[in-house]
Order: sequence, then C-alpha cells, then structure tokens
Amino acid sequence: MAEPSDNFLTIIYNVLCLIVEIIYTIGKFWYLVIEGFLQVFTAQERSVKGDIVLVTGAGHGMGRQLAIQYADLGATVVCWDINEQLNLDTVKLIKSKGKKAYGYTVDVTNREKVLETGNKVLKDVGAVTILVNNAGIMPQHDLLKHTENEIRTIFEVNTLAHFWMFEAFLPKMIANNNGHIVALSSMAGMLGLRNLVPYCGSKFAVRGIQEALSEELRTSTKGKSQIKFTTVFPYMVDTGLCKSMSIRFEKLMPAVDPESAAASIISAQRKGIEELTIPRHLLHLNRVLRVFPNKASKVLADFLEAYVPSDK
Ligand SMILES: NC(=O)c1ccc[n+]([C@@H]2O[C@H](COP(=O)([O-])OP(=O)(O)OC[C@H]3O[C@@H](n4cnc5c(N)ncnc54)[C@H](O)[C@@H]3O)[C@@H](O)[C@H]2O)c1
Repeated sequence: MAEPSDNFLTIIYNVLCLIVEIIYTIGKFWYLVIEGFLQVFTAQERSVKGDIVLVTGAGHGMGRQLAIQYADLGATVVCWDINEQLNLDTVKLIKSKGKKAYGYTVDVTNREKVLETGNKVLKDVGAVTILVNNAGIMPQHDLLKHTENEIRTIFEVNTLAHFWMFEAFLPKMIANNNGHIVALSSMAGMLGLRNLVPYCGSKFAVRGIQEALSEELRTSTKGKSQIKFTTVFPYMVDTGLCKSMSIRFEKLMPAVDPESAAASIISAQRKGIEELTIPRHLLHLNRVLRVFPNKASKVLADFLEAYVPSDK
C-alpha cells in the first residue's frame, strides 16, 4: 500500500510537471507569435525549379497566369481545364517560350476522370509537388433565383472537386513527405455577401477544408508533415468571372489584374504563407472587424456600399 507521503510526492511532482508544461507552452506560443510577425518581412521565396505544379482552371484568368509564371520560374507545369481550347492555348504559350508544360482536358467535378488523369500525370510527368486548386465558377444573383442545378454545380466545382484532387495527389505527397496545396477561396469565403449565397458557402468551405486538412496532417505526424498549405482570398480580380461589382470608392479598392494576383499567390506559396488576401491588408482588416459586434461592422459595409450586383 502506498504511503501518504508517496501520494503527496506524486502530487507535487505532477504539479511541477504541469507548471513546467504551462511555462513551455506560453514561451513557445510567444516565440511563434514573434516569429510569425517577423516572417512577414524576412521569409525568403524558395525556388520552384524542378517542381511539378498542377493548376486547375489553367485555361483562363488567374489559372493561366499561375501556369505561365510558374513555368517562367523553372517549374514543369501541368495544366488542367474543362475548356480544351483555352487550356491548349496556355500550354502553347508556355512552350513557345521554351518552358515545360503539359495539358489535360479535365472536368474537375468528375471524380473518375480526375483519378484516371491523375495516374496519367504520374506516368507522363511525375509526382505533383505543388497542387493549385484554382478552377471556380461564380453565378451571382438572389438565393431564390439560383436553380437546384446551379447550386449543386457551384459546390461541385468550387468545393467537392478539391476532395477528388486530394484523392488523386495527396497520397504521393504524404509518401514523399513533400508537397504544397494552394487553394483559391475568395473574400466571399470570409464575408457573407448578397447575390453570392451558394458561392460564399462554397468558398467558406474551402477555407475550412484547407485548415482542417493542414491540422490533420500536423497532428497525425506529430508535427513532422512537410506538406504545406496556402489559401488565397482575392477580393476582385479582373478576369471576367465577376460580371460586375459595385463599390462607392472604386479608386480606393480597384480590381487587381490577373498577372499581379498570380504573382502574389506564387510569392505567398514560395514563402510558405498560409493565408493570403488580395489585396493583403484585407486579411488584417477582416480580423479586426470580426472583433466588433456584427451590427457595427455592417455600418462600415453600408458606408463603403460594396456589393456584387445580380447578373439577372
Ligand atoms: N476573379 C475574381 O474576382 C475572383 C475573386 C475571388 C476568388 N476568385 C476565385 O479564383 C479562382 C479563379 O478565378 P478566375 O477569375 O481566374 O476565373 P476564370 O473564370 O477566369 O477562369 C476559371 C477557369 O476554370 C475553368 N473551369 C471552370 N469549371 C471547371 C471545371 N469543372 N473543371 C475544370 N476547369 C474548370 C474555366 O474553364 C476557366 O478556364 C476561382 O476559384 C474563383 O472563384 C476569383
């Protein structure tokens, strides 16, 4: 039978262990806070030479620019798009500059086709090291004017497709303990906006999926996973995806051109930044506004009169 003094010593020992663990946790927390702030200014862009970068929706807009710019940086680019001709144009453009690109016509909502083409890519090109889930659609009108088919398709393209892409490419990344998953969410994945109810839902989901998968890999490998994540939240990029946007002070928040949006995304990926808004300050603005009561934040939103008009 344990002596009362043994029990007392065990309690003291456990309390001391807990105190050490609390001090260690607080110290590590503040160390990482400072490191995080410093990283904004000091993080270096790692080289993507030799990487195999797969971009979905590479036929147009930011996807095309991402493919071109990654190829310019020395990566081998794999272009996927549902639109055969536009995708081919991107591949031709890259090849005409003497850079490496492969094109595949894929509807990313078609799980079987994604898995089948994923295997083809592995044989033709090699293991994808940077996956950019970029393809997306954005119908913009009142919730009750969205058809059932439209709502399903928004989620199929903007959200569910990410799972099929993970199924195709994540196992190899895990086996090699090397990879980077970039996903295009949207400012509509941080703020609820009128005329974009299903779109907002699909883009909020992208944020959650990226965060949860990153956390799952971190915890299941006890912090050893080298697979990185970058989630991108653009406000307004001039690609034609958003048919129109209304904002009171247009000059203060102009639409960004797809070339510079792609350059910001690539830079964030190369620096290992986890969340990027375009423009960058919106990330902090959103965090600050979320501290205040929702009604108060709405006063600002009403003042800015920023919204996406209906396309109907
Ligand atoms: N443009 C913006 O203002 C803006 C703002 C925030 C977020 N985003 C997001 O950024 C991403 C890229 O936007 P963009 O403006 O460059 O779009 P875009 O319309 O210019 O290009 C999208 C590309 O995706 C392809 N695509 C569509 N459905 C597909 C499918 N089922 N399978 C394969 N490819 C498919 C299209 O053919 C097209 O080439 C999207 O996810 C979009 O939601 C855009």
